[in-house]
Amino acid sequence: MWWQVKHQNGWPPVSNLLCVSAAALLLAACEAAPMVSRPAADMRTSVELPSKEREHFRHGMRIYLESLYGITEALAEHKLPLVAEHAQKAGTAAVREVPISIAATLPPGFLLLGMDTHQKFDALAASAAARASTKEMQLQIRDILGNCATCHANYRIAQ
Ligand code: HEC
Repeated sequence: MWWQVKHQNGWPPVSNLLCVSAAALLLAACEAAPMVSRPAADMRTSVELPSKEREHFRHGMRIYLESLYGITEALAEHKLPLVAEHAQKAGTAAVREVPISIAATLPPGFLLLGMDTHQKFDALAASAAARASTKEMQLQIRDILGNCATCHANYRIAQ
């Protein structure tokens, strides 16, 4: 799903810009060259959050990313206590209570994916603490990344 992320910055690929400014001859050559497809229309569901919650949400996302970096590095070095430590940072203990009045306005699928992701980090922390096999933990990380990709493909935050 790499393309969905790539297309968020709205800029046409450099090869397209070159085509636009080139003479007809060059244009023909550009057209013959393989082109990166244009961004598809943004079909993601827009999620409304008050500005304070929005900031917390984005902060939580950056914690997810940092945790995954720490987990991957620690796993490669087979430092399992560190894997557990990094995973816990993104687990359910890290969840900040969202007021029920706000939670009630969020799409249920969005809420469920968020909670499931925190729980998967907890499960990974437990596996690392129990010295599970590297393969087993890699599969857990795959499933976590699957949640990241699924949610990003389906939702965006309204400005
Ligand atoms: C419940 C849905 C959901 C899940 C699960 C999710 N994200 Fe996000 N994430 C979002 C949305 C929505 C945005 C904002 C995208 C936008 O508005 O264009 C976002 C933004 C981000 C950002 C940018 C933060 C900023 O500072 O603006 C990062 C980094 C990120 N996510 C990482 C991750 C990682 C890594 C995972 C998996 C561990 C993950 N996310 C899981 C929904 C989710």
